[in-house]
Amino acid sequence: MNHRYIVTGGAGFIGSALVRALLARGHRVHVIDNLSTGNLNNLEEIADQITVHEYDIRDYNRIAPVIAGAHRVFHLAALPSVPKSILNPVPSHESNIDGTFNVFLAAADGKVGRVVYAASSSAYGDTEVLPKVETMTPRPKSPYAVQKLLGEYYASVFAECFGIETVSLRFFNVFGPRQDPTSVYSGVLSIFLTCLIEQRSPTINGDGEQSRDFTYVEDVVALLLKASEAPGVSGKVFNAGNGNRYTLNETWRLLQKIEGADLPAQYGPPRPGDVRDSQADTTAAVRELAHAPQFTFEQGLRLTLDWYRADLARKQSSARSGATLVS
Ligand code: NAD
Ligand code: UD1
Repeated sequence: MNHRYIVTGGAGFIGSALVRALLARGHRVHVIDNLSTGNLNNLEEIADQITVHEYDIRDYNRIAPVIAGAHRVFHLAALPSVPKSILNPVPSHESNIDGTFNVFLAAADGKVGRVVYAASSSAYGDTEVLPKVETMTPRPKSPYAVQKLLGEYYASVFAECFGIETVSLRFFNVFGPRQDPTSVYSGVLSIFLTCLIEQRSPTINGDGEQSRDFTYVEDVVALLLKASEAPGVSGKVFNAGNGNRYTLNETWRLLQKIEGADLPAQYGPPRPGDVRDSQADTTAAVRELAHAPQFTFEQGLRLTLDWYRADLARKQSSARSGATLVS
C-alpha cells in the first residue's frame, strides 16, 4: 500500500509542519503551492523526500492530475490574512474561493478518499457568548472570513452531492516554528516573538484587550491527521483550538516575563475586520476526533521562541560566511 497524500499550501507555515508529520508516518507526499506566501525554505531538509508542484490552485487543469486518485488531500492553500482581504479583496477571493472550489472539484472528479479543509475560526465573527461552538450562526466580519466559511459550505456540499468525504477544521490562531514574521500582515505571535528577540516594542492594534485562543502548530497537525482518518465525520465542521484565550496585553506581559525583558508595547488604532474575542469549544473535536492538545500556551511560546532564535543565528551565520566569501 503506497497511498499518495496531497498537501495544498504545503510550503506554508502549517502545511510544512503537516508535510513533516506525514513523512514521519511513512507516507508519500505531494505539495501543491504557488509560493505566494509560502517558501521552499520551509521544506529545505526534506526537499528530496517529497514532490513539489509549483502550481496555482486557481488553475484546475494543472492541479487536477496531481490530485486525481490521491488517498487524502489536505487543503491548506489560501491567502490567510484578514487585513489583506480588506485592502485587496480580489486575490484572496480568487485563491480562497475559486481555488478552493477547484480543489474540491478535482478531488471529486479524481475520486479522492477524503479532503480535510483548513477552515477558520474567523467565520464566527463576534459572538455573544464564549467559547464558540460549531452550532452557532456564523457572522463573518471580513472578506477573508466569508471566503473561509464558503469553503466549509462547499466541503459539506461536495460530501452531500458529489460522493467524496470531507472534513472542515476551524483553526483558531495557530503559532509555531516557520510562521513568517516579516510582514505587517503576519500572525501576531510571530511578530511579538521577533520583537522580543530583537529587543523592540511591538505595536498593538487597539487597546490590546482583544483575546485569542492561540494554538500550537503541532496540536493542529495532530488534529488534521485525526480528521483524515476518523470514521463517521464526513461533511462535518470542527473547532481546532485549545479552549483557552489570552489577551494581547497578557501575552506580551508573559513574553517579557519569559525573557526577563522590559519593553512596553506601543498602541495604534484598532484594525478593521478584527474579531474581539476568540475561544474554541473543543467538546465536539474531543468526542468525535479524540482531540487532545499536548502543548500549553507557554510551552508553545518557549518552543517557538527557541526556534526563531536558532533561525536568526543560522541566517546571521550564513550572511557572515557569504561576506567572507565575497571579501
Ligand atoms: P501560509 O501563508 O504560511 O500558508 C498558505 C500557503 O498557501 C502558502 O504556502 C502559499 O504560498 C499557498 N498559496 C496561497 N495561495 C495559493 C494559490 N492560489 N495556489 C497555490 N498555493 C497557494 O499560511 P498558514 O498560516 O500556514 O495557513 C494555512 C491555512 O490555514 C490557510 O488556509 C489559512 O486560511 C488557514 N488558517 C490559518 C490560521 C492561522 O492562524 N495561521 C488560522 C485559521 C485558518
Ligand atoms: C488569524 C490568522 C487567520 C485565521 C484566524 C483564525 C494569520 C496572519 N491570520 O487571524 O488566517 O483564520 O487567525 O482565528 O495567521 N495585531 C497587533 N499587532 C500586530 C499584528 C496583529 O496588535 O503587529 C493584532 C490584530 O489586530 C488582531 C490580533 O493581533 O487583533 C491577531 O491578529 P492576527 O495574528 O493577524 O490574527 P487574526 O486576524 O486573528
